Amino acid sequence: MSSGFYETDQAVSEYLLFHYGSPEEILPYPFGPSDALDFPVRCVRDCLDLKRIPPQARALDLGCAVGRASFELARFCTEVIGIDCSHRFIEAAKVLQRHGSLAFQYVDEGSLMKSAAALVPLEIERDRVSFEQGDAQNLRPDIGRFDVLLAANLIDRLGDPRQCLIRFSGLVRAGGQLILTSPYTWLKEFTPADNWLGGFDRDGQSVRTFDMLKQSLEPAFQFVSRNDLPFLIREHARKYQWGVGEASVWIRSNDL
Ligand SMILES: C[S@@+](CC[C@H](N)C(=O)[O-])C[C@H]1O[C@@H](n2cnc3c(N)ncnc32)[C@H](O)[C@@H]1O
Repeated sequence: MSSGFYETDQAVSEYLLFHYGSPEEILPYPFGPSDALDFPVRCVRDCLDLKRIPPQARALDLGCAVGRASFELARFCTEVIGIDCSHRFIEAAKVLQRHGSLAFQYVDEGSLMKSAAALVPLEIERDRVSFEQGDAQNLRPDIGRFDVLLAANLIDRLGDPRQCLIRFSGLVRAGGQLILTSPYTWLKEFTPADNWLGGFDRDGQSVRTFDMLKQSLEPAFQFVSRNDLPFLIREHARKYQWGVGEASVWIRSNDL
């Protein structure tokens, strides 16, 4: 997979199914890992601390892909911005925001396709959500501050993840929540090896991504919790990517 993958028909189709597909469409096998379904929904439902959400809360979903977690955040936040660098993903997310549905096709076998419709749950107020194409490493300067920042499976797709993490302190309000998930799949085609946050040896010691996250985020953020969040991306009727993201939750400290 190259960094251009997120602009392909295949990626749009796989991610629409990943974010909006029904269990029957994604995993029609009773023996499959059904606890890995609904990943974007669980990123919000299992990680967000509702007690910390103020009235009129603002949320940012960085690397939002086709937007399902952004819509889920809108259940609890009155303004949600979803940002992704993929033009194709943002185009699809904007159609879903405007119309609440998007017809698409996904691979069954070879060039045989099936038809489906991505649907935003009706009870979600879609006018709370907007989508923009943008670079998480170079956000527009007037984007403001947020009560919730979600970056789901983004950091190991960035060229300079540490720089991005450091910028997060200026994006989250004091007391606001940062939710990170990642399977820590470090690949040179996305991140030069010198910029990997973990997954290598230094001076005979294994460097682990979580420890480097902690080092980069503290003291601007306080660590709250970490959990395993499985996910399942269907490639075709008989092939899947099953992964386990590590979700970590952090609270923005008061400015000193
Ligand atoms: C592994 S996908 C995860 C998507 C989504 N958050 C999810 O959990 O399904 C990584 C996403 O990050 C986006 N992305 C990669 N680099 C980015 C950057 N520099 N700025 C914004 N988005 C980026 C990709 O286009 C893709 O949608």
